[in-house]
Amino acid sequence: MHCVKKVTEDLVWVGANDRRLAMFEGVYSVPKGVSYNAYLLLDEKTVLFDTVDKAVRHRFLENVKEALGERRLDYLVVQHMEPDHSAVLEELIARHPGVKLVGNAKTLAFIEQFFDFAPDALVVQENDVLDTGKHKLHFLMAPMVHWPEVMVTYDSTDKILFSADAFGCFGALNGALFADEVDFARDYMGEARRYYANIVGKYGSQVQALLKKASSVQIDMICPLHGFVWRSRLGDFISKYALWSEYLPEESGVMIAYASVYGNTENAAELLAYRLREKGVQAVMYDVSVTPVSEIIAEAFRWSHLVFASTTYNAGIFVAMEDLLSDLAAHNIQNRTVAIVENGSWAATSGGLIRKKLEGCKNITFLEQTLSLKSSLKAGQLAELDAIVNAIAAPFARESAETAQSGGAIDTQAMFKLSYGLFVLTAKDGEKDSGCIINTATQITEKPLRISIAVNKANFTHDMIIKTGAFNLSILTESAPFRIFKQFGFQSGRENDKFAESAYTARANNGLRYVPEHTNAMLSGKVVQSMDYSTHTVFIAEIAEALTLSKEPSTTYQYYFEHIKPKPQPPKDDKKGFVCKICGYVYEGETLPEDFICPLCKHGAADFERM
Ligand code: FEO
Repeated sequence: MHCVKKVTEDLVWVGANDRRLAMFEGVYSVPKGVSYNAYLLLDEKTVLFDTVDKAVRHRFLENVKEALGERRLDYLVVQHMEPDHSAVLEELIARHPGVKLVGNAKTLAFIEQFFDFAPDALVVQENDVLDTGKHKLHFLMAPMVHWPEVMVTYDSTDKILFSADAFGCFGALNGALFADEVDFARDYMGEARRYYANIVGKYGSQVQALLKKASSVQIDMICPLHGFVWRSRLGDFISKYALWSEYLPEESGVMIAYASVYGNTENAAELLAYRLREKGVQAVMYDVSVTPVSEIIAEAFRWSHLVFASTTYNAGIFVAMEDLLSDLAAHNIQNRTVAIVENGSWAATSGGLIRKKLEGCKNITFLEQTLSLKSSLKAGQLAELDAIVNAIAAPFARESAETAQSGGAIDTQAMFKLSYGLFVLTAKDGEKDSGCIINTATQITEKPLRISIAVNKANFTHDMIIKTGAFNLSILTESAPFRIFKQFGFQSGRENDKFAESAYTARANNGLRYVPEHTNAMLSGKVVQSMDYSTHTVFIAEIAEALTLSKEPSTTYQYYFEHIKPKPQPPKDDKKGFVCKICGYVYEGETLPEDFICPLCKHGAADFERM
């Protein structure tokens, strides 16, 4: 029986899920299954985007038939020729005579290699456009994301990016189609990271080239070939891609991968982890004989420091560790600090060999402190183990100390201005400044002086902080005029320069702007930890500078509503609609969709009231 799902008014998902596959591409375990996505556009012309793996051929063909109804299939866009998306090409074309295949020159070369038929084809190049009636499909080449023939398609009518392998994720869809129907951050981000690191991780510069192309157009929806469709909070995922493709760690901390035949190397690795934790450094551990390589590779993409501890085996590196290191190097791991522990009962050689394996990778810093065990760790070697721990922990401690020093004066009185108030949060990425309004900031500890802020992921400022780890928080006072809230809260920094018409030029010692008027304090934060909470990221930051700016009382959320925000005006004529209680935006209509998000302040339907 067919199983299709509507994506938009005229776009239907006609893909299928496979939960029986043990090894994706013969290498990657997929315990949560995998989806093969295909999409059918029902415009004046009908267009199918890709086919599926042979394992789900039957369901896919049923789905296409159902979604097409009595209509004929006009175009088949082939974005990627890897057989998990092209296995059913020949049969699909045989079932739909007259269909024109749309691909680039390399697509056709691969069709010739994989099949023994020559399709009727429309060969496209960069920026070619296919007009299907209402929709205009723009083809953008994305070579090596993940194969050389890969291209993506941008539907400029509905602002949809059909992204091929990019933005994919392992995991069957389980009745959902959109990322916002599940707790993606909790349940799927790990699989998305594992998919990225293992499938396209090697091709970071090519992914960046695609991100650059994508950033020049407005994208409201991303339809990948695996995993969920993104129709909201696209920045959540795009910001991860920005980090991953630059091989920048997501988190400060240590991943320890160890190979231990009889538990002695494991014992040293475990002691290392315990001592790192004692110094406040996060650590995770994986036994390479147990945890699949693809999971450890994903974790290596996640953490800033990597420790490899391996026994010597057949005069070399233990086999599972050797596989991991070869795979890590093949996936282009970069920008990491690496520490090595070796073990060998009579001739320990694994340490030097581990180093050799990773020496060709870019920007890998090997700690000079190493530990060489003879069978097991002895009390006399604890100092060597501690030397590794201290070398790893030193930058974390230094970062804290530098944060405290680098900023400027710390006026502790400034901390007393915090309330459940309203704040202008500012950040900077390259030459671009931006800012937004937030209402959640609180002091957590005094020594070190740390605060937490919660920032909606839809904000451009959020993405800047994810990337740079720095922000300023200006604490608004009761004198703040509504224009400040409009300036920072009711437009997007992605499309607008929020400081363009502003007289504010003040910058803190960290070089970031702050708001010097209608504020009573400014805090410069350096992010030490970030936590993903679905719609928001909570940043924990160390205060590098704190200034008291005035004696005016901080505004509270309540004060803002009662005294600053203009009162909603009665509707003119007898218009029906809903007004946003936060910013006053008016939605005209009889009913407000449950999932409506205010285009100005990004608050949901719960914050609207009937006019
Ligand atoms: Fe899902 Fe590169 O194919």
